[in-house]
Amino acid sequence: MTTEATDLSYVIHHSRAMRRLKPDPVPEKVLLELIDAANQGPTGSNKQNASWIIVRDADQKQKLAELNRIAVSSYIDGAESSVPHRDGIVRAVKWQRDHFAEIPALLIPCLTFDSVPADNWRTGASAGGSIWPAVQNVLLTARSLELGAVLTTLGLSNRPAAKEVLGLPELVEPFAILPIGYPMGKFGPVSRRPLEDVVHYNRW
Ligand SMILES: Cc1cc2nc3c(=O)[nH]c(=O)nc-3n(C[C@H](O)[C@H](O)[C@H](O)COP(=O)(O)O)c2cc1C
Repeated sequence: MTTEATDLSYVIHHSRAMRRLKPDPVPEKVLLELIDAANQGPTGSNKQNASWIIVRDADQKQKLAELNRIAVSSYIDGAESSVPHRDGIVRAVKWQRDHFAEIPALLIPCLTFDSVPADNWRTGASAGGSIWPAVQNVLLTARSLELGAVLTTLGLSNRPAAKEVLGLPELVEPFAILPIGYPMGKFGPVSRRPLEDVVHYNRW
């Protein structure tokens, strides 16, 4: 493995969740570069039904920060007592909760659906499969540009309220909020279960 942030394998192995972000603005050109990477991802039947919202407006960020605060606070209350070894994550998640509106840009990946059978966005044939590869493209491209980013979903827990804030039509569903900015801390390698724990041959 090389140690260059432009090397794909290096980037994959060093794309950690980066939650503490500086308030310094990220140029529009760079945000569009991230979305261009996302836009190269696959979609079921090549529908190309993904769209992205760039949120930089202070009022909009404040509204999403409030939704995120409510969901994160209720999640953390449970996580702190039940998962003590995750102290580091909990501190970082709290930091981001308390500074969410200062993050320079929030990217919202969305999919447009053909119809609204109950819960289609979650369980439909292609569901999130048409957006998660694009999201990963954003995370990897952000890392290669030395930008911090993290995949978050808690801020969408109150889905109707989030859709209202974002002005989303009925058939358009948001899947995540990706806070993007220049990192305060250092990048490091991800820590994952070893291959022998996760690989099965021919059957479980
Ligand atoms: C489906 C999904 C939802 C997530 N939601 C949140 C979230 O709401 N808030 C947050 O801070 N991190 C969220 N994360 C980030 C995970 O906590 C993070 O990817 C995991 O702890 C691994 O971190 P690491 O890559 O730094 O090791 C989410 C990740 C995934 C895959």
